[in-house]
Amino acid sequence: MEKKNIDWANLGFGYHSTDYRFVANYKDGAWDEGALTTDDKVVISECAGVLQYSQSCFEGLKAYTTEDGHIVTFRPDLNGERLENSAKRLEMPVFPKEKFVEACLEVIKANKEWVPPYGSGATLYLRPYMFGSGPVIGVKPADEYQFRIFATPVGPYFKGGAKPIVVRITDFDRAAPHGTGHIKAGLNYAMSLHAIVDAHNNGYAENMYLDAATRTKIEETGGANIIFIKPDGTFVTPKSNSILPSVTRRSLEYVAEHYLGMKVEEREVTLAEVESGAFSECGLCGTAAVISPIGRIDDHGKEICFASGMEEMGPYTKKLYDTLTGIQMGRIEAPEGWIYKVD
Ligand code: PLP
Ligand code: COI
Repeated sequence: MEKKNIDWANLGFGYHSTDYRFVANYKDGAWDEGALTTDDKVVISECAGVLQYSQSCFEGLKAYTTEDGHIVTFRPDLNGERLENSAKRLEMPVFPKEKFVEACLEVIKANKEWVPPYGSGATLYLRPYMFGSGPVIGVKPADEYQFRIFATPVGPYFKGGAKPIVVRITDFDRAAPHGTGHIKAGLNYAMSLHAIVDAHNNGYAENMYLDAATRTKIEETGGANIIFIKPDGTFVTPKSNSILPSVTRRSLEYVAEHYLGMKVEEREVTLAEVESGAFSECGLCGTAAVISPIGRIDDHGKEICFASGMEEMGPYTKKLYDTLTGIQMGRIEAPEGWIYKVD
């Protein structure tokens, strides 16, 4: 198989139309079988639920070329499960997780030439998504839906890759206490766009959101969960009902405990605790971001600096990064069920 002629090492996190995508339609109360297509255009009613009332949700996962030349993907069952939960909360029909996994594997297989080579620093990002395609004008769920998965080769989410970033504590809220923060609804991202543009305009890579009710506890960023490391190597990650249950973060908790022998705490983390200097390392984690170290958090003029500094990842973050990516790229044996072989 010939790989596509792409400068893999210099890919950013952007969209490239690849050869095949998967499309399934929901009509008259049932999903059709779905199929691969080369057509990258979506044609829907001008009054579609997604266009009028933002009825949409999505997922993100990656395919990797392993050290020994296989193509694999990482825990797609968890993305399938999360999409089911997103659909239920948005009054959309559930696309069954078993079918979701099958469709992901099909899309990867059909776009094998687009899976970046081992060691290139790039990966194939899959974007499964679902939206209300049938017309609605009164506020109610649509009757018809489309589920699609496209694939696009990507490089690092943050420019500079593993170099520490600076984030700010934002005054905007991402999720209400009983809202939709725990699901991957498109609307969560629409309302974060102003905050992210404003953060970028002020020189920050991302926004760190606080809990909307008390504004005292760390939640997550716009597109990733947050991890903290104490000087003694304890892994601490915020627990909240309004953050997205990140597959990467849940995997890192396991890696920290079972591969690296670190103590793991999933609990509330206050901004005051972070400001007190309790943590020596901090990072973002997610499929797109992998683990991106945070060197500094700015809180309205107050700078919270981590001992790991602004040049490189701290030692525990690096071990977590190396172990997780080692598992994904086949250098380190994975826990049972984490790796799905495509070929
Ligand atoms: N939190 C938010 C808001 C996200 O958009 C993402 C990205 O998917 C994550 C966390 C990380 O989740 P995962 O590790 O499942 O990609
Ligand atoms: C992901 O990590 O897959 C995301 O969805 C984050 C962002 C690109 C929305």
